Amino acid sequence: MSNTKLTDAVEKRRTFAIISHPDAGKTTITEQLLLFGGVVREAGTVKAKKSGNFAKSDWMEIEQKRGISVTSSVMQFDYAGKRINILDTPGHEDFSEDTYRTLMAVDSAVMVIDSAKGIEPQTKKLFQICKMRGIPIFTFMNKLDRDGRDPMDLITELQEVLGIEAYPMNWPIGMGKELKGLYDRFNNRIELFRPADENDPFISLQDDGDIDDGYADLKTDQWYTDARDNMELINEAGDQFSAEKIASGDQTPVFFGSALVNFGVKTFLDAYLQFAPAPSPHKTTDDGEIEPTDPEFSGFVFKIQANMNPNHRDRIAFVRVCSGEFDRGMDVTQERTGKKVRLGNVTEFLANTRESVEKAVAGDIIGLYDTGNFQIGDSIYTGKRAIKFEKLPQFTPELFVRVTAKNVMKQKSFHKGINQLVQEGAVQLYQSYTTGQYILGAVGQLQFEVFQFRMQNEYNSEVEMEPMGHKIARWINPEQLDPHMASSRNLLVKDINDDPLFLFENQYAERWFQDKYPKVELTAKL
Ligand code: G4P
Repeated sequence: MSNTKLTDAVEKRRTFAIISHPDAGKTTITEQLLLFGGVVREAGTVKAKKSGNFAKSDWMEIEQKRGISVTSSVMQFDYAGKRINILDTPGHEDFSEDTYRTLMAVDSAVMVIDSAKGIEPQTKKLFQICKMRGIPIFTFMNKLDRDGRDPMDLITELQEVLGIEAYPMNWPIGMGKELKGLYDRFNNRIELFRPADENDPFISLQDDGDIDDGYADLKTDQWYTDARDNMELINEAGDQFSAEKIASGDQTPVFFGSALVNFGVKTFLDAYLQFAPAPSPHKTTDDGEIEPTDPEFSGFVFKIQANMNPNHRDRIAFVRVCSGEFDRGMDVTQERTGKKVRLGNVTEFLANTRESVEKAVAGDIIGLYDTGNFQIGDSIYTGKRAIKFEKLPQFTPELFVRVTAKNVMKQKSFHKGINQLVQEGAVQLYQSYTTGQYILGAVGQLQFEVFQFRMQNEYNSEVEMEPMGHKIARWINPEQLDPHMASSRNLLVKDINDDPLFLFENQYAERWFQDKYPKVELTAKL
């Protein structure tokens, strides 16, 4: 590919994840977006996968049993001249570090909120990761076909709870049974919910921001005048639209609509494509940056998923391409080991079918079949310049279990399994200073279940897991560590880098420790 062609291809890419609390409508909106992309699908396939009835599924058995998506998959489609990659994030409340790490591989995020509920806990957690990365966040206030909360409350809540400027791109004219349409200030039009002519749902606004007298019914409707009044109020007192602030993640454009009845979704998608960024440069550990249009190929592994097809016992390393162009069969260098690796067996994720990739450029995701060579965070590249992308952040676990092998004779497979699964980032591993006992840490309970299942199925090692009451992990500078600090109110452990940390049962225990050792600095990861 010539340089201009590569630049054009990169410019076309839009790579994002949808963040939401379970049931806000992520699956429903994903389906709508795929339909716009003309991805031929059986109706409801995303949903079917979620409910566990997905016959063609070759997902992990546990995923089917629980009827939830353990893993984040990737969907790609073309729309309006753009190539869009949606990285799915597990929506279940047991969500894990995988979800967090997926957010490291996207260039923007779409936050779907149930307009009857507003911001829910998981939305908030995921939002914080996006905020930390400074990526643009677009908000879709969903379920307008049902009675929800006052739109003004929802906007205020975004500002107050998430601390982000919110700019309504449109405003509901009524809701639930009274839903008439959207006052679309961004496109200067009204979008009718039930237009007389389905092909023409829009009424242009006049210079004064009002509609023509010819639409007397709507013009005199209380919901319409309310929407206009609110828009005027926001025009005067609300935040100014700022493309720069959107780009830096300091302002979120807010769109109202209903994924279920496909109202406002296309309006949202069109505006999203106008402001969502194409792939941007990625930072390296030597304070450099790799331009997405750099002709040398580079990328990093952000997730490893095992046994997508139980018949093949394969692992797939998901790579975010950061520069250059992927070609089937190319040789790359794995930065961590310095080894050359041939990328022969690779998949791309086009909706449900795994199709072979030919060309992928910055912004795309490729799945490498892996026999245990890759680790999360690995950088790969071509060319002479060694590239090491910035380390993926570690997330502070909130759940801990003591773990032992059921059969003491099988220590070897127990250790092998733990080491490999920890390398994959399935769970985090700690060891007690005093007893040497293994402790696992996770962000979500499901991570433990997946761990237990995989230990048995892949390493033939049955494990016992004993839940611990500890919920808070705090790292300490090794120079400040004094063995006397260990007490019945905390547990001193070390992580896989041998860095010391304390586990506390609750904030009181942490505070008690801080009061006792005011000079000691305790730090969380993220
Ligand atoms: P999730 O992936 O975020 O967990 O949410 P999902 O899309 O599965 O939607 C959760 C529920 O909310 C579903 O109902 C879905 O139909 C409904 N829903 C999604 N978007 C809208 C919307 O715009 N309006 C309304 N009224 N409902 C919406 P369910 O009863 O759990 O599933 P189903 O029985 O309808 O399939």
